[in-house]
Amino acid sequence: MAQHPLILGIETSCDDTAAAVMAGDELLSSVVSSQAFHGEYGGVVPELASRDHQRLIVPVVQKALAEASVTHAELDGIGVTYGPGLAGALLVGLSFAKAMAVGLDVPLFGINHLEGHIYSAHLAPEKPPFPYLCLIVSGGHTELVRVDEGFSHVVLGRTRDDAAGEAFDKIARLLGLGYPGGPEIDRLATDGDPSFYTFPRASLDGYAFSFSGLKTSVLYYLNDHAEDERQELLASHTADLCAAVQQAIVDVLVDALARAIDETGIRDIAIVGGVSANRQLRSDAQALMQEKGATLYVPEPAFCTDNAAMIAVSAVHKFRLGLTSPLNLTAAPSLSL
Ligand code: KG4
Ligand code: ZN
Repeated sequence: MAQHPLILGIETSCDDTAAAVMAGDELLSSVVSSQAFHGEYGGVVPELASRDHQRLIVPVVQKALAEASVTHAELDGIGVTYGPGLAGALLVGLSFAKAMAVGLDVPLFGINHLEGHIYSAHLAPEKPPFPYLCLIVSGGHTELVRVDEGFSHVVLGRTRDDAAGEAFDKIARLLGLGYPGGPEIDRLATDGDPSFYTFPRASLDGYAFSFSGLKTSVLYYLNDHAEDERQELLASHTADLCAAVQQAIVDVLVDALARAIDETGIRDIAIVGGVSANRQLRSDAQALMQEKGATLYVPEPAFCTDNAAMIAVSAVHKFRLGLTSPLNLTAAPSLSL
C-alpha cells in the first residue's frame, strides 16, 4: 500500500511538459519532455510551446502514472503550476489539471512555479529545516528568500534586470554558443581560466542583483576587437571567456549568500532553479558553507531545471496543510512570490 497522499504534479509553464507522481515523501516517477526545437529560434517561442504542451500533456501524464504503477482512480490530489510563466503554456497544464480534479473529485493544488523550485530542495533525503535561506536562480528569476513553514516566504532581494540564467543564455549567444547557454558555459568553462579577463561584479544595496551590466560588458569587450581579431579570440579563448563570465556570476551569488548568512544567522541554505545545476556555483557555495559552518541543500541536477517532481512535492506539503485551490483558479503569468 502506497504512502498517503498520492499526488500527481503537472508543470507546463515554459518549454518543458512534465508530470510526476509522489506517494507522501516518496517520488514514484518524474517525466520531463523538453521542447528542444526552441534552440533553432535562440529562445522559447510562446505559441509553439503551448501547441507542443497540448500535444504532449496526455502522453506525459500517462507515462508518469504508468512508471509509478498508479491509476487515475487512486490519486488523492492534483498539483499544477498556475504561474508565473507563459500564459498559453500555463493554460494547457492548468486546464488539464482542473479537468482531472473535477473528473476524479479530488482537490486541486495551484502551485507557484517559484514555490515549486523552492520545494525541490525537499526532494532529497536530507531536507532543509524551516526557516532556511533559499537562492532561486533560474532563467526567469534570481531571488534570495527566507522560507518559513506553511508556505510563507520573505523575499530578501531579487534581480533588478536580467535573471542569472538569462545572463548565462544571453552571454552564451554573444559568444556564439547554443541555447540554453548555461549548460554550454558550464561545460566549456571546465577547460578555461577564469582570470583570463575580469568582468565587473555589480554590487547593489541589500540583496538586489543586476546582471545586465555584465552582458553589456561582454558585448563591449567583444566589440573592442576588430572582426578578424574577434574570430581569433573566440577560436582560441572561448573556454577562458566562459570561465571568466561564469566566475563573475557565481561570485555575485555567493557573496550575497555570505552576507545573508552573517546578517540573518540562518545556517541552512538551499540553492534551486536551473542555474543551481552549475558546477562552479555548487562548489563555491559548498566552500562558503564550510567557512560559515552552514549546510547546503541543492537538488540533484534533474530537479534543478524545470520538472514536475517539484510541483508534486509542493502539492504534498499543501495537502498536509489543507491549502487547496478553488476550481476557478486562473493562470497568473506574472505571479511573484
Ligand atoms: O529553472 P529553469 O529550468 O527554468 C526557469 O524557470 O527559468 O532554468 C533554466 C535556466 C536557463 O537559463 C539555463 O541556461 C540555466 O537555467 N542553466 C544553467 C545550467 N543548467 C541550466 N546555468 C548555468 N549552469 C548550468 N549548468
Ligand atoms: Zn523554473
